Order: sequence, then C-alpha cells, then structure tokens
Amino acid sequence: MVLYRFPFPLSLLNTRDKIFSNYEFIETGYRSQFSGLPGTGWRMSSIVEQILEEKRKQNAVILAHLYVDGEVQEIADFCGDSYYLSQMAQKTDAETIVFCGVEFMAESAKILNPEKLVLMPDRAADCPMAHMATPDDVAAFRATYDDLSVVCYINSTTELKTVSDVCVTSSNAGKVISNIPNKHILFIPDQNLGGFLAPQFPDKEFHFVDGYCHVHNFMDPSEVEALMAEHPDAKVACHPECNPGIRALSDYIGSTTGILKYANETDAKEFIILTEIGVAHRLRLDNPGKTFYFPETRPVCPNMKKVSLEKVLRVLKDHKDPIEVDPDIAEKAKNCLIKMHQWGG
Ligand code: 13P
Ligand code: SF4
Repeated sequence: MVLYRFPFPLSLLNTRDKIFSNYEFIETGYRSQFSGLPGTGWRMSSIVEQILEEKRKQNAVILAHLYVDGEVQEIADFCGDSYYLSQMAQKTDAETIVFCGVEFMAESAKILNPEKLVLMPDRAADCPMAHMATPDDVAAFRATYDDLSVVCYINSTTELKTVSDVCVTSSNAGKVISNIPNKHILFIPDQNLGGFLAPQFPDKEFHFVDGYCHVHNFMDPSEVEALMAEHPDAKVACHPECNPGIRALSDYIGSTTGILKYANETDAKEFIILTEIGVAHRLRLDNPGKTFYFPETRPVCPNMKKVSLEKVLRVLKDHKDPIEVDPDIAEKAKNCLIKMHQWGG
C-alpha cells in the first residue's frame, strides 16, 4: 500500500516553504505575517514579488482556502476554512478581494461586499455540491411542512441561498442550528454534514436531499481500516463531509481548521487525515515532529487545485471576469449569510 507519508509528492508544491510560512495561527485560521521577499533565485519569486506589488498598489486582500495548493496559501493574507474566510471577507476594508477558492466562496464575499471588486484566479473553479439542491426542492419541502427552517450549507449556489433561512459552514453548523426554533430542518445540500449534525439535535426532525462532496463522500472505510491497522497509534481525524462509515472510524470530526487545531493540540505523533490533501501543507509545517497519513486514493478537489500563483497574478493585473451578483438577488441571499454570522460567531 502506498502511503502518503510526508515528505511526499507535495514537496513539489512546497518548494518555497522555507521562504514563507510566516503565519500566525489565530484559533480559527491563519493570518499572514509576511511582509517582504527574501532574496532568492527561485523562478517563482518574480511572480510572488509581482503579486505582492499589485496587492499593495490596489489595496487588495488575498483569501485562500486550506485546500488550494500550498504555495498559493503562502501568499494569502488570510488562510483558513470557509467560515474563517467568510468572516475575513466581511471584515476587510480592502477595495479588492482575490478569493483563492471555489465560486460559492467568492460569490458569498461579493454578496457581503457588493461595493468591492471580487476576483477569482480561475472562474471555472466551482463546487459540484453547490448545485445538488434546487429552489424547487426547497419549495416542495415548504409546501409539506409548516414548521420548517431551511438550513443551507455555504457550499451552495447564490440562488439556493435566496430561498433558505440561514447558512452554515462545517465549523459553525451546530451553533447555528441550536438557535433555530422550528421542529423541522431541511438541511441542504450536503447529506453527510446534515447526517453528522442530526443526532446532536434529537428534538428536531431533519430532512435531506441527495447532495454530497465527491472528494469526501467516496472515501473507502475498508481502506481507512487497513491504514489504521498499519498505524495503530495514529489518531483519525475526518471532515463531516465524509460518509458515515468514515465518520464512525474517526476520533475527531471537524472542519478543515478544526482538523488542523486537533492535530496541533493532540499529543499523538501520527495521524490519519481524512479530508482534502491541501491541508497537508499546514499540517506538516506546523507539526514537524508528527507524521500524517492520507488514504491511498488521494482525496483531491480538482476545483480547488485550479488556483495557481500565475492565475492570481493574472487576475490581479487584468481584473477579468469579476464576480457579479444581481443586486436584488444578492440582497435576498445576504439574509441567510448575515444570520449565520450573527448566530455562528
Ligand atoms: P470547510 O472549509 O468548512 O472545512 O469546508 C470544506 C470544504 O469542502 C470547502 O469546500
Ligand atoms: Fe466542493 Fe468538496 Fe471541493 Fe469542497 S472539497 S469545493 S465541497 S467538491
């Protein structure tokens, strides 16, 4: 069995680890301490230098999800899970936001900041799960249950947010749902995150659609069991987007940042990590004395991997295809994001 023990092919992504990584962990995410470019002959230094220069000139902020390539995480001002990035997007006073992630993240940033220029390095980076529920699904449930609240994972289209009552992310969903008075919860689109939450609220009745993240849903429990047998002392941490079989094997279930915090704070020396491989970058940097194993069927989100340093620089220069959301639609979709920030913070 091939184990993705580090250093491993990711070293290709992390050639500049020694140059960067001036990040401070601030409980829910990473804030960059990076302030200048050390002298280096490395080819990428010119790209990085130009990104930093454009960023300064344009008063831009770069937000990066922990699933994008390590070198992109390194040039970001803020790097973390979906909730942390949404908080940073809400708080920033930068005029331009470059969102290194997938479309629903950048659209949420635009909805919260209609006056700002929101750019994506690759406009094709979309999350398939975001489209796995429709306003028609919501209408059907509303017609069936009077006492219903529609809870929408932030991994969703803007259209879906306009017909939902509140948004959640994987790190604040429990907190948000505990504020909901209704008996019936329609949780869309991720049935795995919903299935993880439902037993925590025995007084409520949860309803789901058939939505899932292909990266987390198709992990194979028998593969993880084999990995556990090989590393009996390893702690197992998974993301709640994983299927129930994977969740049942895990010592810890939490968001991307939650998994990093768990690994940083737990004494164990070995961990089996069941989420997208991009988290390996920070796990390895933060924990040089620990070893992290990933499933052989490498969990990679092809959409997050569309973001590159070259594309960050290009979009900073050409401002091509900025995120646009119709103001009326944005106004409707904003309510459930604002409620998430009020209840989930
Ligand atoms: P979090 O950022 O909430 O951990 O969610 C992971 C994810 O799949 C984002 O697309
Ligand atoms: Fe969507 Fe899954 Fe990729 Fe996240 S990891 S963007 S949920 S496909």
